[in-house]
Amino acid sequence: MIVHRQPFIIHQFDKLSSTNDVLKKMANQPEFTCVVADEQSAGRGRRERQWHSSPGDGLYLSVLLLPEATKKLSLLSLLAAVSVAETLIERNVSGVDIKWPNDVLVNGRKLCGILIESVSTGANAPRIIAGIGVNLNHASFPAELRATATSLKIETGSAVMVDEFRDQLLQKLLVWYGRWKRGEEKMISDRWQQLSSYALGQQVNVTLDAETITGETAGLTEDGALKLRLADGNLRTILAGEVTRLRKDET
Ligand code: BTN
Repeated sequence: MIVHRQPFIIHQFDKLSSTNDVLKKMANQPEFTCVVADEQSAGRGRRERQWHSSPGDGLYLSVLLLPEATKKLSLLSLLAAVSVAETLIERNVSGVDIKWPNDVLVNGRKLCGILIESVSTGANAPRIIAGIGVNLNHASFPAELRATATSLKIETGSAVMVDEFRDQLLQKLLVWYGRWKRGEEKMISDRWQQLSSYALGQQVNVTLDAETITGETAGLTEDGALKLRLADGNLRTILAGEVTRLRKDET
């Protein structure tokens, strides 16, 4: 089924492997083509993880973006997280937070994950697949996720219309993507920092490919990289990594 929500053209599936994988095969379509599924059999997360995608419980959405070749792409994942966080806040959800770079948490547990991928077309301009998974109506999670994942149903007690949430989120995404296209990068990193309790003064571990470093968060660079103040006072800029907050007794 195809649903039109200007400028989005939404291809809605009952079940597929991964909305990112299916949209990659449609990457010659116009910008704002979306793939949404009720269920994914092979939903993917960052760092080769799976994304739990039980039927009807979540929003499993991928959006095709065609930014100009000259744009720096690093802020895209932050603006997607800001869009999700604002959608939740607009729905009066409390306890919304963002963990760098783009995990949206509610009351400390992960409600949304974002996977930004690019399709190589040989042409200059990148074709970006912005994959967004939001846990909406899950009543529970498999044992291995229970301590870290949550859904809106678990947090608020109420079920959510997935399509309504999708449309509200797409409108937010359009606004923030428009700002990014106009060069309003600072607005994005400022808003991210406002919404994230991780942005400043937090003792964290950051797991990189080959090492784990500890430091205090010191805001974002203009490109959305995380600044970390190390024990020796030096600042280190993190472009990619997994952040964990240290408990008070670990600091
Ligand atoms: C993460 O936090 O690890 C990112 C999770 C991204 C999940 C979404 S669900 C829709 C889209 N399709 C996928 O296969 N993955 C993303």
